[in-house]
Amino acid sequence: MKKIFIDSDCGIDDATAIMIALASPDIEVVGISAVAGNAGLDHVVNNITGLLAYFGREDIPVYKGATTSLLGERIHAEGVHGSNGLGDVELPKNSKTVESLMAPDGLYKAAKENPGLTLVTLGPLTNIAMSINLYPELKSLIKEIVIMGGALDKGNITKFAEFNFAADPESVQFVFDAGIPLTIVPWDVAVIAMYTEEELDALGLKDSKAGKLLLDMQKVPLDFLEQVFGFRGVGFPDPLTMAYVVDETIASRRIKGNLKMELSFNTMRGASVPSEGLEMDIILEIKKEKFNPILMQIMALE
Ligand code: RIB
Ligand code: CA
Repeated sequence: MKKIFIDSDCGIDDATAIMIALASPDIEVVGISAVAGNAGLDHVVNNITGLLAYFGREDIPVYKGATTSLLGERIHAEGVHGSNGLGDVELPKNSKTVESLMAPDGLYKAAKENPGLTLVTLGPLTNIAMSINLYPELKSLIKEIVIMGGALDKGNITKFAEFNFAADPESVQFVFDAGIPLTIVPWDVAVIAMYTEEELDALGLKDSKAGKLLLDMQKVPLDFLEQVFGFRGVGFPDPLTMAYVVDETIASRRIKGNLKMELSFNTMRGASVPSEGLEMDIILEIKKEKFNPILMQIMALE
């Protein structure tokens, strides 16, 4: 059983990724921390607690984290993710509360209790940089960080930068420099494995509680993409990342390399650029045929 801690700016695709983790018989989620990103922090926290309550997993501790980047900035993604981060889908009211510990402390607690923990990050890296800064022992307690972020070819928030990395590039560089083994799943992987609305419908997800939620959440991004690009399709960056955590063999192309963050205040700010070294695992492709069966496991969630 692989024990994982998730840091998320829950978001539509984050919610799907969390459902994948909950549904996998090979994964145990030992905690989730919230970071502002796709929506403001209060929405993100509500989305995570609401999702866990919806699937009867109130046992998983949730920790509140950063409201902005280390430099006090916040970029917005409400256009793609709706006003509440879940494509305006409202989860039922529930009584799930957050822990009194904050995210950096929650991660440290989880890592101490579960040596060899895998950390999966689906949002800006502010909580993680703060946690490693406060608790350098994390470098030996965490086995690996699997990070959704960065873009090798084109960005999605600017021409050069991907949202999670652009939201707090200083934190990303701090995490890169920590010396913890890193696997990066860049935005490019989601672009290659884009789903048209027809492909999504053909999966037959609608006949299950989790599948229906997934499809309901896609209405806002489908409309958004149609307006901006004239195409009804969706990307699954966080779900592909979580599917890789469930089964690493689904990556069909990967390389060893290094990335460095562009931190200057110019048009390249937030871009992840290739640099010397072979320390990171960088995933280049996950084929939809490999991802689909892992995604469809969510249909078993009650
Ligand atoms: O760029 C894609 C990433 O930004 C995903 O994690 C999405 O949820 C947003 O956080
Ligand atoms: Ca995310």
